[in-house]
Amino acid sequence: MKNIAPDFLLIGSGVAGLRAAISASRYGRVLILNKGGLNESSSQKAQGGVAAVLNAEEGEIDSHYQDTIDAGRGLCHDEAVRVLVEEGPNRILELIEWGATFDKIGSQFATVLEGAHRKGRILRAQGDATGAEIVKTLVEKARKIPNLIFSPNHFAIDLIVEDGICQGAWVLDQAKNTMDPILARGVVLATGGAGQVFSRTTNPTVVTGDGIAMAIRAGAMVSDMEFVQFHPTSLFLSNAPAFLLSEAMRGEGGLLRNSDGKLFMAAYHPDSELAPRDIVTRAIWHQMRQGQSVFLDLTHMESAYVRERFPTIDKTCREYGVDIACDKIPVAPAAHYMMGGIKTDLFGRTSLNRLWAAGEVATTGVHGANRLASNALLEGLVFGARVGDDLKNVAPLPQTPPIPLFNQRGGICPSPLETYYAMQKCVKDTMWHDVGIIRSAKSLERAMKQIKECEWVMNEPLPAAPTNKGEEKISSRLALETRNLVIVAAAIITAARARKESIGAHFLEDS
Ligand code: FAD
Ligand code: SIN
Repeated sequence: MKNIAPDFLLIGSGVAGLRAAISASRYGRVLILNKGGLNESSSQKAQGGVAAVLNAEEGEIDSHYQDTIDAGRGLCHDEAVRVLVEEGPNRILELIEWGATFDKIGSQFATVLEGAHRKGRILRAQGDATGAEIVKTLVEKARKIPNLIFSPNHFAIDLIVEDGICQGAWVLDQAKNTMDPILARGVVLATGGAGQVFSRTTNPTVVTGDGIAMAIRAGAMVSDMEFVQFHPTSLFLSNAPAFLLSEAMRGEGGLLRNSDGKLFMAAYHPDSELAPRDIVTRAIWHQMRQGQSVFLDLTHMESAYVRERFPTIDKTCREYGVDIACDKIPVAPAAHYMMGGIKTDLFGRTSLNRLWAAGEVATTGVHGANRLASNALLEGLVFGARVGDDLKNVAPLPQTPPIPLFNQRGGICPSPLETYYAMQKCVKDTMWHDVGIIRSAKSLERAMKQIKECEWVMNEPLPAAPTNKGEEKISSRLALETRNLVIVAAAIITAARARKESIGAHFLEDS
């Protein structure tokens, strides 16, 4: 891989990285990395759909704009939201032109309502497999582009920054366990969010906040880190992961009941089950604190329709002995989406020269304090394309830059695997209990103290040994991810401590 010499290095192959790579490939040779294969990303798992106004009815775009602003509780960047809702429809039409199929009823696109949307404007594919359809379409398109090269299973460790200019990244080849510097005239971080910082999350295991941590280490500006979205409904069973149960299930009529069989949402918000996501999450949390279990109930709906409408969810729930059409499904909230991240302008430019960011890793300002459901895939498409186009104007690197010797910083990964596993558990549990759905000044102080005790991992020599031994391969990635989780956790706590009032997803019980 070190012989590829790309013009542009794209780190991450979710919807944002893929879309950026497709546009960037018009201006030079693109290398696109991921650390876990093409099917391991939040994009691939996205269920509910993608919000976009495809009918030309007057006022529809404005209504999408207003719902996004309202959900963001006054903290959205107006111009960024305008870009999102106005460019979104073209990004979707382009996907359709490239082969994506969205579900239809008759000749019209099927749409569903989700929380805090005034209108049903959410498109979906194969019922609940919208992300997989979009990723498949983008990958097929990308594979036809000769100067776009995929490099799966390559883990970006750190950015290479010389004289304040980002010039590439150090990359771990996970198969060979070797590290190489990859230089490029433009670098894009599209590494997704940071759900794995929390012990309960809907996010896949690759989502460990690497891009945010790399940016922080390189001195790029991050913002809004206190705003973590907790999804109200993930599967809650002792033997199951926090598998997402799409908001679309409530959009189609699913109800939330407690162990007494009581519908409780109307007591918390006039929109009941379709209240904004943070409100539903806190309502469920409140019920659970009172000793109730909470269930998502679709048993009043036609069972054939439920199974056909949510085939992926149906299949996964069955694996854990739950029939979504006949059983009341036990649910609890889980960390789902990072509103904060690397601060960018409307073209994805970061505060670091020649570094761009797109997708969940970035903060464009479209989500404010609380993301409107199904706006994330749209953001990845719209701002991914903008970043790719912006690379058009990047001049070649001024000279062959000096490559710092990464290995000088350390030797073989020194600690046993158990140390990293234990540290990750400590970080995740601390974040879930003390920096989760309900926070307080005291809990945040306690969390910071705990995370500080983990910070030695940042000064530890980094794993750099070119070896083929299985255990060391695991420990390289584990050590690197642990370091990133600690950095991102500290950034979330710092931002949460600085914001003294409750707003959107940041809720302080003592404010
Ligand atoms: P991701 O899709 O997460 O991709 C990140 C990429 O970066 C991966 O390829 C990964 O391998 C790579 N990567 C990470 N770290 C490194 C590293 N160090 N080195 C190399 N590569 C790296 N949003 C909606 O709008 N609608 C929905 O219906 C919806 N449903 C969702 C369901 C689930 C279960 C989840 C988890 C999220 C959902 N979201 C939804 C949110 C949305 O899917 C994500 O915000 C969005 O897909 C993120 O896209 P991305 O391209 O920024 O990152
Ligand atoms: C869901 O399907 O509930 C997830 C939608 C989203 O996160 O936007």
